Amino acid sequence: MGKVTLPVLKKMKGREKIAMVTCYDASFARLVEKSGVESVLVGDSLGNVIKGESNTLGVSISEMEYHVKAVRKGITNPFLIADMPFGSYQVSLEKGLRNAIKLMKAGAEAVKVEGGAEVAKLISKLTSFGIPVVGHAGLTPQYVNKFGGFGKRGKTPEEREFIFESAKIIEKAGAEMIVLEGIPEKLAEDITAALKIPTIGIGAGKATDGQVLVLYDLLGMDSSFNPSFLKKYADLDDTVTKALTAYFADVKK
Ligand code: KIV
Repeated sequence: MGKVTLPVLKKMKGREKIAMVTCYDASFARLVEKSGVESVLVGDSLGNVIKGESNTLGVSISEMEYHVKAVRKGITNPFLIADMPFGSYQVSLEKGLRNAIKLMKAGAEAVKVEGGAEVAKLISKLTSFGIPVVGHAGLTPQYVNKFGGFGKRGKTPEEREFIFESAKIIEKAGAEMIVLEGIPEKLAEDITAALKIPTIGIGAGKATDGQVLVLYDLLGMDSSFNPSFLKKYADLDDTVTKALTAYFADVKK
């Protein structure tokens, strides 16, 4: 695989599914590179899987910079996207621009923001300065306190309409791709058909232009975490526990 650029990803829409995975460090990034996965997201899900927190709200821009730099060291070809964490873009356009620049300087090739109409101006601002933006609609984890949890979105016709319109606004504002999280398959299918930009789904069915999963989830790092949409491709919870237990036993001998 050669270098995956944004135009390469955008041309894949309707032709070939895009594979995206989250990553947070150089060692796993090296393995992701070998897999052929076209895009890597340094997600603010690091709040959950790296920091052990119950949501993503505590993740800071400096933590994101640190992890983007680490992942950048481990990958060359996949297209690298970095999440703008909660608090890094809500206060003002200027603050959003400053923080997006920090992530680009750390090695990201695009930034991701959650929301709809409320981030439209920011998306236009960033893209006007050559910072590609990925939108994120549906289940948006930074809104956990508004929604009261991480349940699926788009359960009512009004909510489906709202998500559909948000996706269109995000595209119109200049976003290059959009993540659709935790919404009904039919809604994701309709949005995918209505937009020219690639849609990347997580818990949104099969009809999107690509799929993204949290690396530790797909590797089965936590046997107690089993959402219905998650296919596990390994059982690292078991593998790593057994390896460490064997090491422990050897040392004691
Ligand atoms: O933070 C994250 O990992 C994400 C993905 C789940 C899309 O936003």
